[in-house]
Order: sequence, then C-alpha cells, then structure tokens
Amino acid sequence: MGKYQELNGKSVIVTGAGRGIGLAIARRFVEEGCKVMLTDISRGESDNVIVLAERVGSDVCFEQVDISSKDQVEAMIERAVRQFGRLDIIVNNAGIGEIAPLIDVDEDSYDRQMAVNAKGTFLCATAAARQMLKQGRGGRIINNASGAGKMAPGKALPLGVYAMSKHAVIGLTKALGHELAADNILVNCVCAGIVDTPMWDLIDRETARIKGLQEGTVKAAAVASIPIGRIQQPEDIANMIVWLASDDASYVAAQALNCCGGLVPY
Ligand SMILES: NC(=O)c1ccc[n+]([C@@H]2O[C@H](COP(=O)([O-])OP(=O)(O)OC[C@H]3O[C@@H](n4cnc5c(N)ncnc54)[C@H](O)[C@@H]3O)[C@@H](O)[C@H]2O)c1
Repeated sequence: MGKYQELNGKSVIVTGAGRGIGLAIARRFVEEGCKVMLTDISRGESDNVIVLAERVGSDVCFEQVDISSKDQVEAMIERAVRQFGRLDIIVNNAGIGEIAPLIDVDEDSYDRQMAVNAKGTFLCATAAARQMLKQGRGGRIINNASGAGKMAPGKALPLGVYAMSKHAVIGLTKALGHELAADNILVNCVCAGIVDTPMWDLIDRETARIKGLQEGTVKAAAVASIPIGRIQQPEDIANMIVWLASDDASYVAAQALNCCGGLVPY
C-alpha cells in the first residue's frame, strides 16, 4: 500500500535505475502504484523491481538509455508516453563520479562526468519539460544532485569534477524551476550525503589507492563524520523523492533540498 494516494496511476521515468539509489526510487514508485519506466545504460538489478511490479499487476518496463545522448533521451520520453499515455514525473538520478585531484584530471574524465551529470540531466529535464508543457497538466522534475553540489568535498575526497558537475545540476534546477513554476511543473533536486551504494565503494577504493591507504578506511572516516551517526540508505533518498512528487510538496519549486543526515549544514 502506497503512502501517497495521489501518486497511484501516475507515469514515472527513473534514470540510472539499474542499481543503487535509482533502483530504490523505482521500487518505491511501484509501491506507490505508479507506472514506472526504469532506464539505465545497463540492466543491472532492474529485473528485481520488474518482477515485484508484475506480481502486483503494475505497468513497468526497462529501457536501455544513455542520458548523455540527446537522441536516446528524446526516444526515452516518446516510449514512456507511448507505453503509459503521458509523463507525470521524471527522476533524473543517473550520475557518475571519477576520483582524482583536479590538477591531475585528464580531459576525457572531465568530459565523461560533465556529459552524464550536467549535460545528461539537462537533456532529460528539458525533454521531459517539453512533454509536460504539451500535456498542459503540470508535472514534477526531480534531479538527484548531491551535497557535493553545494560544498566541494575537500582534500580528503578528490571529487572536484564531480562537485563541479553537481553544482551545475543545482544551477539547472533553480533556472528551470523558475522557468516552469507558473506552468505547475515543479523542478527540485535532492542533495544526498554518503549513501551505501556501489558508487561509494568506488570512491573508497580509488581514494585509498591514490592516497596509499587501506581499502575501507576512507568510507569508515566519511561515515564517522555523519551527524546522524549512520550511513545513508538508498531508501532515505527514495522517501524524499516520493514526497517531492506528492501533493504535500505542491508549493516547493526550484529548491535544492538536503537529505544527508546533517552532513551539509546549508
Ligand atoms: N552514493 C552516494 O553517496 C551519492 C551521494 C549523493 C548523490 N549521489 C547521486 O545519486 C545518483 C545515484 O548514485 P548511486 O550511488 O546509486 O550510483 P551507482 O553508481 O550505484 O548507480 C548509478 C547508476 O547510473 C547508471 N548510469 C551511469 N551512467 C549512465 C548514463 N550515461 N546513462 C544512464 N545511466 C547511467 C549506472 O549504470 C548505474 O546503474 C547519482 O547521480 C549520484 O551522483 C550519490
């Protein structure tokens, strides 16, 4: 049984839904009775959610989409509309992080992170917005930014380009949020902290390698700095995302909201 009745039957796209936070978000929208298109460059564990959804008779599907490709993003929106009849909500969750101090970042790594996190989120958000404007019934565009979009992680975590790309996601959220609020298309983003997913395993492994530390120590130190005293779970983000999609958030527009256990203070 879902928590927000008004979400029942709504049509949702989640990008980067093959694993981690995106998978938890997709699962939660299924539990809320939504029609959900899970998209990702690779299928990952998405079948877990598809099987669960089909068992309760929900309309769900998986589409292979690289969000850094304009053609693939536009085709994704068209397919969702063909399958579900309309698009009510998009969660732009897909993202990547690569580890290196800024002075050592090569151009390819910069281009990859910007292409997915900044450009990809822009392509998905604007393509969804054009569809929602055509429908004329409002909508919700929810971006998965990061605490690193407000506060660069600093020397302990060499995530400089990632932080730049997530600052861009917050800028996009504010600019597009202002452009679309009068059409009742509410654009917001969520800024998570340290979430227990494969992305953080990579951050730990790569940072430890660069600094000559033991694997696991970087993650342990980061978790020890979280005021709430535990690592964040993907479901903690899914909770905030479904709230942002619900009627309870109908006066929230163009905001970057923290869900980080107190890690980022503003
Ligand atoms: N894990 C954290 O601590 C954390 C914190 C703050 C924000 N975030 C953000 O949350 C989002 C999800 O993170 P996660 O921890 O679940 O990461 P993850 O690496 O576990 O999962 C990311 C998913 O995105 C997909 N993906 C990557 N590039 C893609 C592309 N070009 N097109 C489509 N899909 C693509 C991957 O295949 C993967 O399934 C990201 O945007 C990340 O920056 C994560």
